[in-house]
Amino acid sequence: MRTIVLFAMSLWPALGASAADADVERRIGELVARMTLQEKLGQMSQSTSLRTPLSDAIKAEIRAGRWGSFLNAGDARDRAEAQRIATEESRLKIPLIFGRDVIHGYQTVFPIPLGQAATWDPDLVRQAAREAAREAAADRITWTFAPMIDIARDPRWGRIAESLGEDPYLASQLGAAMIRGFQGDSLAAPDSLAACAKHYAGYGAAEGGRDYNSAWLPEILLRDVYLRPFQAASQAGVATFMTAFNTLNAVPATADSFLLRNILRGEWKYEGMVVSDYEAVTNLIAHGYALDAREAARKAIRAGVEMEMVSTSFYDHAAELLRAGQITMQDIDGSVRDILRLKFRLGLFDPRPVPPPPDPQRTLAVAEKTAEESAVLLRNEGRLLPLSKSIRKIAVIGPLADSPVDQMGTWSMDGRADFVRTPLAALREMLGAGRVIYAPGLINSRDRSRAGFDRAVSAARQADAAVLFLGEEAILSGEARSRAFLNLPGAQEALVDAVAAAGKPIAAVILAGRPLTFHDAAAKIPAILYCFHPGTMGGPAIARLLFGDASPSGKLPVTFPRTVGQVPIYYAHLNTGRPPLAGDLGVPMGNPANPQGYRSKYIDVDYTPEYPFGFGLSYTSFRYSPPELSAKTLAAGGRLTITAQVANTGPRASDEIVQLYTSGPLGGSVARPVRELKGFRRVHLEPGAAVQVKFTITTEDLAYYNPKMQLAAEPGPYRA
Ligand code: BGC
Repeated sequence: MRTIVLFAMSLWPALGASAADADVERRIGELVARMTLQEKLGQMSQSTSLRTPLSDAIKAEIRAGRWGSFLNAGDARDRAEAQRIATEESRLKIPLIFGRDVIHGYQTVFPIPLGQAATWDPDLVRQAAREAAREAAADRITWTFAPMIDIARDPRWGRIAESLGEDPYLASQLGAAMIRGFQGDSLAAPDSLAACAKHYAGYGAAEGGRDYNSAWLPEILLRDVYLRPFQAASQAGVATFMTAFNTLNAVPATADSFLLRNILRGEWKYEGMVVSDYEAVTNLIAHGYALDAREAARKAIRAGVEMEMVSTSFYDHAAELLRAGQITMQDIDGSVRDILRLKFRLGLFDPRPVPPPPDPQRTLAVAEKTAEESAVLLRNEGRLLPLSKSIRKIAVIGPLADSPVDQMGTWSMDGRADFVRTPLAALREMLGAGRVIYAPGLINSRDRSRAGFDRAVSAARQADAAVLFLGEEAILSGEARSRAFLNLPGAQEALVDAVAAAGKPIAAVILAGRPLTFHDAAAKIPAILYCFHPGTMGGPAIARLLFGDASPSGKLPVTFPRTVGQVPIYYAHLNTGRPPLAGDLGVPMGNPANPQGYRSKYIDVDYTPEYPFGFGLSYTSFRYSPPELSAKTLAAGGRLTITAQVANTGPRASDEIVQLYTSGPLGGSVARPVRELKGFRRVHLEPGAAVQVKFTITTEDLAYYNPKMQLAAEPGPYRA
């Protein structure tokens, strides 16, 4: 244990983005002065009703300034025509902004965000978002509803797939990287998209992991964990924020002025635009928070929502609310200004050139590299992997070996299935089709029929090794795809049993949108590579990893439970007053053991996770020198370095992700997590090579909220 003594200090967040330039402000002012109320409310309205071909009705509405934005609607030609009408034929010629869920790629699909988080590689994550922006911008999209930076600590929640995992530091770093990728150097560049930090806030804490469900987060947890990535996004200059569907501490986030006015605008000085989620404004009625659409509009506008997605309560009721003095013209004008400012920043008021689609070779190379870095080797008994390329024959088994759509994962509505290279195709290409025996065993991941088992077992018998491609289809994770069981669905476990009985070496590649539980199956599979949903180029990346052209280097961005009953389980938990004892380890799963001891544990399963946060094996081995601190104490405003040497002591070149955690202080005003991630670095090491890795820590890095909700670093001993 290294001890660092800190002095208390208050740290208030850095102020947000700078004021937009004076000329733009003048033009905004002139426009707002000329706009009718209906035109203002039109700007505050976003619709999906752009259909191919554009109807006369929608053309007339655009001409009349009825809509400020469209989402997930129409094709590039429709968007071009709609924009032409808005900028040439509407009274004030205000351009439209076209939003779309470009979440982890557009036509080329990158790993799902949870997989990207497993890379721990902000620059690569940035590059992936950059490529996605280029592809989408070529189709006249100017706004993406990403990144989703909801902290996700519950694998039952289907949207964990779209998250950057459980840790606020990792999600902050990677979320900011995505924002830089989408937005590029300048929003006005033709190939930049406005990004959107969503869903503000607490959405990932849905009770029971059931999507859209209530979230209860004490303010200290909200601020210390759930809001941190949002504040980082605000500091990274994210152009927009999206309000969440859920209630947070009994107030729907879409009408929560504490979140929107006090924190986002007040504390963080955020100057971008705030959009609601899909019909989240009128959902206030179902929440029981508004009697009708008029009251929903009032509460959302008063709280600070500026653009209403899909439902039309603002447009329908704001005039009456103004007349009744229940909202003010300042509320409306403030929103319109923020919307117009975004359009100016995107360069939409000038003819914005449409960029050519990016070089597909580069986009695919980024997709393959991201897929490669996102794979996490969970198990490799007897160094079964990598397989030798001189293998005579390999059996490829399982429902996910050759399913392009499932490889892309959730949110790939624009993903081109015909671009996808599946593991089966890639392995055939690498080894020659004659050496690959394919027998899926199951039609899809939910298939319960064992009709295909005999062929799968016979394939394994004929081969020198079998690789099973297991997991979840794309449709089992993502929005509204919560699961109460986390096991491999369908008859996949039975398929593992049947293939294992063939007595050949077997490895599994798991493609999924969440952490799954596969404790029993794992005992029969010596090598497991967890690939989340790896996207378009998952196949070649997996083939390279299986055969040692690359070494796995991904690390888990989220804790994997042994069983769903342990959820929520995450690494940065507080200690209990009765921590488990060493003897509480290794409790077998299922049947209660002889109950004894008054400790914080389970009597029917080991209390620890199956695989911890930050975990991932490699084909090589690394040796860490004991970390050295530059000083034993850290004073307010000071900095301290922590240095360690990392050496590749094994036979293969590989990347390693060096992770810095702190723990403490002991004896502060609140109990602190047992460990917290404070830094990480991906380094590449050839066999025998070593590198010095240095982290710098300031008191700001160690600050946390005290019971008075002040952000401060308190004095006391730390462990690093
Ligand atoms: C989701 C958002 C998404 C929006 C638009 C909603 O259902 O929660 O994340 O951006 O739809 O598609």
